[in-house]
Amino acid sequence: MAHSDAWGGFWALMKHADVAAVAADWQTYLTSQQNVVPKVAFTGRRPPLHLDPPEHTPYRRALAPLLSDRRVAALEPVMRRICRDLLAAMVARGGGDVCADFSSHMPVAVFGHWMNLSELAVDQLAQVGQRYNIAVQSNDIEQTRIASAALYEVAQNVVAARRASPLAVETDATSALLAVRVDGAPLPDELIVGTIRQVLVVGLIAPSVVIGAMAVHLARDPALQTKLRDDRTLLPAAVDEFLRLYTPYRGFARTAERDVCIRGRTIPAGEPIALVYASANRDEDVFEDPDSFRLDRPNMTASLAFGRGPHMCVGAGLGRLELIVALDELLSAAPGFVLAGEPMPTRFPEIGALSAPIRFEQAA
Ligand code: HEM
Repeated sequence: MAHSDAWGGFWALMKHADVAAVAADWQTYLTSQQNVVPKVAFTGRRPPLHLDPPEHTPYRRALAPLLSDRRVAALEPVMRRICRDLLAAMVARGGGDVCADFSSHMPVAVFGHWMNLSELAVDQLAQVGQRYNIAVQSNDIEQTRIASAALYEVAQNVVAARRASPLAVETDATSALLAVRVDGAPLPDELIVGTIRQVLVVGLIAPSVVIGAMAVHLARDPALQTKLRDDRTLLPAAVDEFLRLYTPYRGFARTAERDVCIRGRTIPAGEPIALVYASANRDEDVFEDPDSFRLDRPNMTASLAFGRGPHMCVGAGLGRLELIVALDELLSAAPGFVLAGEPMPTRFPEIGALSAPIRFEQAA
């Protein structure tokens, strides 16, 4: 663990055991104070991530059934079609940038489908989402604020549309949130908008940068590429290992509600603690030879890529299937692919690729 004076001072937990224990102990470690380091607070609270149980629970309960294994599996044909269309355009050009041409579009299109958005709203979301991503990546505070406000507007429009004409709660996240009653009362309007705004961002960036990271890794490892192309049953394990190795979110934060002692050091109440999931996932005490890609890890369930405890990613099933389908389709698009330029990594706080130029190889 470490302490830094940057950004007003924060603690960082890097070991797997510490990160997993703190993420699971929601009574002691709150997310409602500060969920990321450094704190970015342009807009209001965004459930479920910004609330602690029990306040957190109704939002999570409304979203979870819409992201169940059954619901997610039903999205697979749509995902495949979206991937194939995007990749066909790249193949026709002999290659392209996996991030700009494929992975930055696919999650938005899938997500738009899941959220029952109109084509116009999906286009708007794609544009605003991209502006937000670029602003965050270039550390441009003013542009991040503007793009964040625009995303709020998208969320507000979705909520207003569903309020005017609700869809079935079993098929629509916004309608499900609007239908929730706690002690007979609906959820506060601004927190419903905040939830939609939260979901609009968390579900889009991670799949995009991981697909880029997988493409770069495989372009540099043709033997692994062939192995996965020849045996698609290996893809789920490969995706889990990619997620461990290239954990896209470096970490989220918690705040201890009382003084706590970790590894002999006292963390005073109220000080932010970054949970460095990406570091925990390369902890040599848990993962042998942690910097290598291995398909035969005996303990992949220890991976913290989707977090732990009550805030563990509610969209994990959707994110994971998006990665499996994207990888499957990328491998099917051509007999092979190689790097056609220098890839560009993402900046803090994400890990992955922002640009991954590739060239497809033709059949011999
Ligand atoms: C590769 C894909 C993804 C990764 C790696 C990922 C990772 C994570 C992580 C690490 C957390 C825990 C945050 C914390 O501990 O404070 C989280 C929470 C969350 N994720 Fe994901 N995520 C992914 C995709 C998605 C998708 C597709 C959705 C879409 C619905 C989604 C929705 C959420 C939500 C709503 C939360 C907050 C849950 C809560 O507070 O109860 N994520 N995600």
